[in-house]
Order: sequence, then structure tokens, then C-alpha cells
Amino acid sequence: MVLSVPCVFNKYGKKIGKNFQRVGIDFRTILIPDGEDQKTERSLFFILKKMAQHGLQRDSTLITLGGGVVGDLGGLAASLYMRGINFIQCPTTLLAQVDAGIGGKTAIDFVGIKNLIGTFYQPKLVLIDPLVLKSLDRRQYRTGLAEIIKYGVIQDEKLFKKIENQTENILRREPKILISLISRSCEIKAKIISEDERENGKRAWLNYGHTLGHALESYFKYKTLTHGEAISYGMLFAAQLSRRMNMCSEEVVQRQSQLLRKIGLFRKLPRFNSEMVFKKMFLDKKSRRGQIQFILTRKIGLVTIQKNIPQSIILSALKQFQIDASGLF
Ligand SMILES: NC(=O)c1ccc[n+]([C@@H]2O[C@H](COP(=O)([O-])OP(=O)(O)OC[C@H]3O[C@@H](n4cnc5c(N)ncnc54)[C@H](O)[C@@H]3O)[C@@H](O)[C@H]2O)c1
Ligand SMILES: [Zn+2]
Repeated sequence: MVLSVPCVFNKYGKKIGKNFQRVGIDFRTILIPDGEDQKTERSLFFILKKMAQHGLQRDSTLITLGGGVVGDLGGLAASLYMRGINFIQCPTTLLAQVDAGIGGKTAIDFVGIKNLIGTFYQPKLVLIDPLVLKSLDRRQYRTGLAEIIKYGVIQDEKLFKKIENQTENILRREPKILISLISRSCEIKAKIISEDERENGKRAWLNYGHTLGHALESYFKYKTLTHGEAISYGMLFAAQLSRRMNMCSEEVVQRQSQLLRKIGLFRKLPRFNSEMVFKKMFLDKKSRRGQIQFILTRKIGLVTIQKNIPQSIILSALKQFQIDASGLF
């Protein structure tokens, strides 16, 4: 069973269908409407119902073809149907190729909370074709690049440097450089997760830039900034906070800021109420027992988890960040 959205299936689904027919594999498709707002129990049960109506068995396979929305929904459906059937991810956005498609987290939003219901369910295979990225719109493409920059900051200075040196080729979406960036990103994420699948320790590194990033996305009701743009500001803030805590040099902050700017990830940031954004950071699922947990940079390629940062420092850093960020666009 192939799960997709119409715009992706129309471009790439037919080819998959032809190949299946050629080797005699029997398959069906389920299409759901496009959009972030599809991660609902309604879509989930629609998919499960289709799976049942088409008579999927325990040895059947669900293949998701699309971005993170299709991957998260399909993964959840595959993990629930008959207590779990085979699942293959074919992520078609850069974000899904380097992030959502790897790691086995599945989810729908519930009672207004993002990703509240989900399972850990690993796909049997993640099949990535960088050529499908040609049809992705500019902002979506750059959103994925933000996650790749994040991998550089948390684990791999060489990767970071490669993005600095080859920005033009990357923005031109040259397959050769894309293959190297995507495979390295998957390797980093897979390694971290294989050591800490349930986020008790280093999986939290992957959250670099996401504490403020999620708060900003939610403050602006997911309309103003893409995820990648929000976490770019989040990474800048985390770097500035690391500097304030004397954990890194000013150069570490500048390199991140310059690269994110060069890639075009700093979209105009409307004024926000620092106190409200600060409160939202506390509501983040990942803050534990009333403490905001921050991932801070020591240098490019090395981060640490920091739990006890005084609230006054975070709040004054946030106020300063707002002033600095307004001059970046
Ligand atoms: N499971 C995880 O670990 C994890 C990690 C990060 C994000 N996510 C989830 O992923 C979702 C975001 O993923 P996304 O950014 O891929 O969003 P998305 O799935 O909505 O895709 C973005 C848009 O790109 C279109 N698209 C997809 N592939 C295309 C292609 N090749 N050419 C042209 N258009 C294409 C889609 O139809 C959609 O309109 C969020 O719901 C987020 O919660 C999950
Ligand atoms: Zn992210």
C-alpha cells in the first residue's frame, strides 16, 4: 500500500507503480489531502480503514511517499494496524530525508497539541532519492538545510565547513553535494538514535535550536516561519546563550549566524512578546519538571545539555536576541 498526497503522487507515484507492475507486485494507493493540518485522528482512521478495506495482511507493507506529514501519519498507521506491519519510508522533502524519515518517531496532533499521540516504530527501509528535491519549493528546501546545519553544529565540523564552502552548489541542488549532505545527516541522526532511542540522554542534542524554535513557531501560530526558519533563529539564540554562559567564543556564534544568513534562513521576524515566548519555552514537551533544558554549543561540532540556567539569564538573552534578530533580515 502506497500512502501519499496528490501533488507528490502525480509526480513520482506513477513510476513506482510501473516498477511494481513490472516485477509483479500487487499494490494499492491511498491519497490524503496535503497539509500540516492532516495529522489528525480523522486522517489516521481514514488510512486504517482503507488498509482494512483493501485487505492488508500482517505481511503487507505500507510505503509512505511524501514529506514528514505523510511519513508521521503512515508510520503511526503501520505501527497500529494488526499491531504492526512492514513499513517503508520514501521521504520526498529535504526535511523528511534528513530528519522526519529517520529515527522511528510517528505522530498525529491531538487536542491542539502537536505530535501528542504517536509510537516509536522503525521502518524496514528508508529510500531516499535526492532528485525528487528538484520540484520542492525554495522555502521548503531551505527548511531542510537548517536541519543539516544543525547536524554540523552538534556533531560534525567538517559537515558544517562543507556547507560554508559549497553554499552555491547546495542552493543549486547539485545531486553530488546533496548525496553527501543527506547521507552524512542520516548517519549522524541514526547513530545518535541507536544509542538513545527514547530520548533519555544524547537524543536531546537533536533538539539544538528547537527550544526557542518551537516556541516561535507556536507563538506565530505556525504561519509566519517555516520550521527551518524558526530553528535557525533558535540556533542563533542557543549560540548567543552559550556565549553568555561563557561556553564558547564569539566566533562560534558568528559562524552560525553568517551561514544561516547566507542560506537565506533568516526571514523577517515580527516583534514578539519576550515574556510570552519565554513561557512557551517552558511548555515545550522537552522541558522537564519546570526546568527548560537547553542544548548549548561549545564549539562547532560539540554541544552539551544544560539544565539549570537561571531564568533571568534566559530572559535577558531573549530580549537581546530580539534586538539582534531584527537587524538580520
Ligand atoms: N518523525 C520525526 O522524527 C519528525 C521529525 C521532524 C519533523 N517531523 C514532522 O514532519 C512534518 C513536516 O515535514 P515536511 O516539512 O516534509 O512537511 P510536508 O510533509 O507537509 O511537506 C511539505 C510540502 O512539500 C510537498 N512536497 C513533498 N515532497 C515534494 C517534492 N518532492 N516536490 C514538491 N513538493 C513536495 C508536500 O506535498 C507539502 O506540501 C511535521 O508534521 C513534523 O512534525 C517529524
Ligand atoms: Zn526540527
